[in-house]
Amino acid sequence: MKPVISRISQISPDQSVVCIISRDEIPEFILLSKAEKEYALKQLLAGEKHVVINSYFKTTYIVRTGKSLPEFRIWEELRKTASNLSKIIRAGNHEELVISSDPDTAGAVEAFTEGLILSFYSFEKYLTKKDPENNKKYPSRLLLFGNIPDDDFKWLDELTDAVYIVRELINEPVNRLNAPALSEEIRKAGTNAGFAVDIFNKGKIEALKMGGLLAVNRGSVDPPVFCILEWKPENAVNSKPVVLVGKGIVYDTGGLNIKTGNYMEDMKADMAGAAAVTGTLYTIARTGIPVYVVGLIPATDNRPGGNAYTQGDILTMYNKMTVEVTNTDAEGRLVLADAISYASKYNPEIIINIATLTGSAAMTFGDQAIAAMGNAGREYFSLLEEAGNDVYERIAELPFWEEYGELIKSDVADVKNTGGREAGAITAGKFLEKFSEYPLIHLDIAGPGSLKKDDFYRRKTGPGTGVRLLATFLRKYAADYNVRIKKPGNGHEK
Ligand code: BES
Ligand code: MN
Ligand code: ZN
Repeated sequence: MKPVISRISQISPDQSVVCIISRDEIPEFILLSKAEKEYALKQLLAGEKHVVINSYFKTTYIVRTGKSLPEFRIWEELRKTASNLSKIIRAGNHEELVISSDPDTAGAVEAFTEGLILSFYSFEKYLTKKDPENNKKYPSRLLLFGNIPDDDFKWLDELTDAVYIVRELINEPVNRLNAPALSEEIRKAGTNAGFAVDIFNKGKIEALKMGGLLAVNRGSVDPPVFCILEWKPENAVNSKPVVLVGKGIVYDTGGLNIKTGNYMEDMKADMAGAAAVTGTLYTIARTGIPVYVVGLIPATDNRPGGNAYTQGDILTMYNKMTVEVTNTDAEGRLVLADAISYASKYNPEIIINIATLTGSAAMTFGDQAIAAMGNAGREYFSLLEEAGNDVYERIAELPFWEEYGELIKSDVADVKNTGGREAGAITAGKFLEKFSEYPLIHLDIAGPGSLKKDDFYRRKTGPGTGVRLLATFLRKYAADYNVRIKKPGNGHEK
């Protein structure tokens, strides 16, 4: 359970407190004895990053931030420190905990709280017995002390909510969450947050002739779904929507090109892009961000069942282009291609695609960076880069030169679905570009989208990568629209 957060304006003497300081000085509002304060300072001057002081009724955690780093690096340091301290905090078995800071670092309380909340998460719903060693619990209430603006507080609350939702979705295995079940969860998120959800069933998908989604689904006994999420507030800054497309492969066996060795492990997380899109709409709807956004999620599992699609098949896609299937394990781009061409219906300002798309991206960047590429204007990339730094879901751009498109030419169809071993993340992006009639950015989260083990507050298996990035991007986009996006000549004038 996520802790409840609230703001307080006074700290009482018996409350356990975290205090973040950026100078070797303990603020007045920290109620410790002179001897305790002296002890804490001595430890900090000796280079300790945090000090824990156990008084009779309470525990005080003093956290010292690093010196002379840019703000976004300090925030990340604080999220990680929160993660490190979360184990000690759990052992303290507090019902509630105050988080405070000296006034020097803007956003310090928020960043620490975010790191702490995200560290408290674990996927436990199928454990029938609690670990007997684990009778200690995390605080169920976090009390934020300091001047935290209303909208930042609300943002923190809703965004961390969204990350929990996204993690639950990713961590559910396919026997618990097939494509239709995923669409029901998306519907629930829409109802809770206030965005509209429309779900196309298999009959509708057949009527629309979404040849990519239908081909990938052919080996499955469960039907595919195509979900449309829409947030269109009256005060939206943009008149043409930002369309977010998320890969919803609820399990990827590879199909007939079956994944061997341990490559199939964690392929329940192959819908992490879909989950990120869902969490993003959840966040912006709950916080009322004035931006018009449409989410498109094609979902199915990919299996080598009865009449599974095969190598050599020639598909006709939603936009009537033909695709030669050269590998059934390159399924993500097939379902995404249909969604990307469907996006044209909305006359979008930009399409942003997010997907656990290629092992190539994971090999290149590991789990630290999101591979980004596309043909959209620099203003979008720079906004994404800033958002990525702020939340530490950083993007790294790959070239998107037209020469890479040569690698996916086919003799028998308009395009083929793989381009060989070289530049695999880029050729996947080039494939998607062929289906887009509008500016496109493609984010490949194959690396950071699923984790083999916990990495501080990014918890295994599904850390929820992408939701903090995209939600923060949209928040900045709405705030800066007139100065950064709607420039003369960009063609976005209302
Ligand atoms: N879902 C995988 C990509 C993936 C790999 C995600 C590892 C997370 C971790 C995707 O569908 C896939 O199988 N891609 C193939 C494409 C290849 C056949 C061109 C790959 O990258 O091996
Ligand atoms: Mn695959
Ligand atoms: Zn896949």
